Amino acid sequence: MDAKKSIEALQYFATGLTEGALVHKLQGQIFKAQGFSKLGEKYINHFNEEMGWVEKFVERIIDLGGEVKFEGAKSRPLISNPVEC
Ligand SMILES: [Fe+2]
Repeated sequence: MDAKKSIEALQYFATGLTEGALVHKLQGQIFKAQGFSKLGEKYINHFNEEMGWVEKFVERIIDLGGEVKFEGAKSRPLISNPVEC
């Protein structure tokens, strides 16, 4: 795969993963605030794990001489009832 295509793919994953990870973080904070500490921690840890991958993807984009972009995130509903979840 050429560098340009690699950079595009890495950016695509970095953007999508950042969006998903942030949803996990917010969801985890909501669950923790509701007293579901373990569930909240699980979601927040998932955020941390995913952002670790985003960090690697960004580093690789920079290694390849690409320009890192912050692209917009879509709005998504959050779950307020963990039992539904
Ligand atoms: Fe996830």
